[in-house]
Amino acid sequence: MVSEIPEDAISKFIEAGKIGKLALEKAISEIGPGVSFLSVAEKTEALIREMGAKPSFPINLSINNEAAHFTPSPNDKKTFSTGDLVKVDIGASVDGYLSDNAATVEVGEKGKNSDLIDSTREALNKAISILRPGTMVRDLGSVIGETITSHGFRPVKNLGGHGIGRYDLHSSPFIPNYDDQNGNVLKSGYGIAIEPFASTGIGMIHNGPGGNIFILSGTKTNPEDPIYKNFNTIPFASRWLSSVMPDSSSYLHSMVKTRQVSEFAILKEHRGAMIAQSEHTILILKDKVIVTTK
Ligand code: CO
Repeated sequence: MVSEIPEDAISKFIEAGKIGKLALEKAISEIGPGVSFLSVAEKTEALIREMGAKPSFPINLSINNEAAHFTPSPNDKKTFSTGDLVKVDIGASVDGYLSDNAATVEVGEKGKNSDLIDSTREALNKAISILRPGTMVRDLGSVIGETITSHGFRPVKNLGGHGIGRYDLHSSPFIPNYDDQNGNVLKSGYGIAIEPFASTGIGMIHNGPGGNIFILSGTKTNPEDPIYKNFNTIPFASRWLSSVMPDSSSYLHSMVKTRQVSEFAILKEHRGAMIAQSEHTILILKDKVIVTTK
C-alpha cells in the first residue's frame, strides 16, 4: 500500500511528528553510563502517552553493530556502557497517523564516532533538500550513498526509508540508501521516512536473535484478540502486552508458535562494525515539503 495522507488528516500527521520529536529528545536526555535500557524505554513511551498519543512502535535502543529492532524485555536488566553507540528510533501515533524519527548518540565519551553520526545527518539533510513531487527515490539513494561514502563509510544497502501509511509503519515506496536503479517516483500527498544508515563495516546487515518486538502477522485479525485490541496492527513490545494482560508471556508464546504473531530479529552488522542512523518523517505536498519531526 502507498502512503498517501488524506488532506483532512494532515494536522494529525504533523502532530504525530511533533510528539515523536519530543520523545526522541527525551530518550537522548535519559541515556547515560549505567542507565538501564528499560528505564529509558518506559520514560520515553510514557511521555508519548502523556501527550495524548501512542508510540508508533516500541522504542528501538540498538547499540554498536546493531542497526535496529532491539527494545528491552519486561524485566530487562541491560544498562548502557561508556562508548556505546546508541541508535534511538521512536515515533508517535495520533489516530493511526504515524511519525518515525531516529538519532544516534555516544554514551559517556563523545567524539569517537562523531564523523560516522555526522555522515548520516548530512545525508538525511541533503536528501530532504532535493525532495519534491516527482523526485525519484533512486536519486535520494544516490545523494545518501555518496554523502556517506565521502566521509569514508559505507551506506547500509539492505536497510532504508519507507512510506508511512495509517497504522502502516512500513508502506511503499522503499527508499534506498544508495542508487538502486529503481523507477519509483514520489508524489504529492505521500508521507515518508528517510533513514540513512552508515557503517564502518561492509554495509550489510543480517538477522540476529529476536529483539522483543512483535507484530500480528497476516491479514486475518480477530477483533477479540488482546493484541489487536490494544495495538492494532502496529509493532508492539512484549513489555506492552505484559502491562495489559495477565500471563502474557504464555499467550505471546502460543501466538508466535501458531504463526499468528512474528518477532522481529535484531538487525546487525558483523562484529566490530559500528552503525549510525538519522531519520525524519516528511510530508510531501504540491508546493512544500514538511519535515514533521524537525
Ligand atoms: Co523508519
